[in-house]
Amino acid sequence: MRASHLEEYYSFLRFPSVSTDEEYADKIAECASWLVEKLTSIGLGAKLMPTPGHPIVWAKNKHQPGRKTVMIYGHYDVQPPDPLELWDSPPFDPVLKDGYVYARGSTDNKGQILAHILGIQETIEKDGDLPVNLHLIIEGEEEIGSGNLGNFLSQNLEALQCDVVVVSDTGMIAKGVPTLSYGLRGVTALELKVTSAKIDLHSGMFGGGVANPITALAQLLATLHDKEGRVAIEGFYDAVKPLDMWEREAWRKLPIDGDKEILEETGAPALFGEEGYSTLERLWARPTAEINGIGGGYQGPGTKTVIPSHAMAKLTFRLVPNQDGPQILELAKKHLRKHCPPGVTLDITDGHSGPWYLTDPHSAVGQAAQRALREAFDGKEPALIREGGSIPITSQFRTIMGVETLLLGLALADCRAHSPNENFPLENLEAGIRLNKAVLKELAR
Ligand code: BES
Ligand code: MN
Repeated sequence: MRASHLEEYYSFLRFPSVSTDEEYADKIAECASWLVEKLTSIGLGAKLMPTPGHPIVWAKNKHQPGRKTVMIYGHYDVQPPDPLELWDSPPFDPVLKDGYVYARGSTDNKGQILAHILGIQETIEKDGDLPVNLHLIIEGEEEIGSGNLGNFLSQNLEALQCDVVVVSDTGMIAKGVPTLSYGLRGVTALELKVTSAKIDLHSGMFGGGVANPITALAQLLATLHDKEGRVAIEGFYDAVKPLDMWEREAWRKLPIDGDKEILEETGAPALFGEEGYSTLERLWARPTAEINGIGGGYQGPGTKTVIPSHAMAKLTFRLVPNQDGPQILELAKKHLRKHCPPGVTLDITDGHSGPWYLTDPHSAVGQAAQRALREAFDGKEPALIREGGSIPITSQFRTIMGVETLLLGLALADCRAHSPNENFPLENLEAGIRLNKAVLKELAR
């Protein structure tokens, strides 16, 4: 690996480009400008496209008639680094240890999008140009639902016209095993607030007289699932497309023991979830209802005899083909209103929402992707998988632009994305550079 590649990787990682927190808005902008400069320096025409939120970076080479047009998409925003005390080194001060770079965004998504940029750079240095017409779109709001990217696509539809999108923001089934992901879950979010009294109350003076909002919230949240781990919202599973037999069989033959690895990686005392499905099937092809956060009442040391005025919870639902996000949100709200205990008021706020994605790994572009994966990984046969995470814009690439997305990810199961000590092996940065060259070559054919 060239020393300059590593230096640039570190520079990219040093920007705390946290999209969800307004405090970081300047850093986000600096990070986007750094990208524009880098992309200009390797010979692309690059510009910053403002949005009502964080800016989008758009770069292209000189397009020539008669060539295929490929869009490469990634994101420069990252998740918040908290809890800070669990990091072994500061999240925005990258360190290299045993071949792995540790920093927030090292895998998700700075390492993976930088691999594309460096691959493009090396090809232009060697050949003077790329084999395809390229659009490179790097956004700053993926981790908060890509709320402004759809409009950007619609507004620039003609100029962005392309044959296929390539994204490296998903996982590898195991280190060294090239992986083509052909499906992602969707996600839809909501927030609950349960209120009782207008202010916190003395629990001796008022306890027993008015409802406790935390108790009510706990009871309400407990109605979301049955004892077997199935989601208990009426109609939740109605639209779910059953797994195909070929998929179940293919996933059983994947070169990993999913259960063992998930137990080890998570440290959970046991696996848990819906009966009748393997763990990988539950992660990749079954929907869930998750409580992501809960709060209310006194959290300080010692005791405080109080009936808190309110309690809150944040929920997300992971969605699968052919569930409809807005419809699931309606079903969930109806369920929550119906099961809300007496004595409190319930307020529900909608959050971001993004659909699932499913494509055919054997399509013409899917086969090109598989050839590229073999080339970049020593002739190894690629694993074809679905994944549980979400990249909301993939479905809009199809509905707005009419193109399919190839998910050629480089994240490892133990990369700690969204967690403390996120990391990425330099081996994968190098593989990503090879993969970029191979996939542009194969898609050009
Ligand atoms: N890179 C992930 C998506 C991902 C994770 C795909 C794991 C496959 C496996 C992406 O950056 C991400 O985290 N997306 C969010 C989207 C959400 C905030 C709308 C997610 O999945 O939680
Ligand atoms: Mn992410």
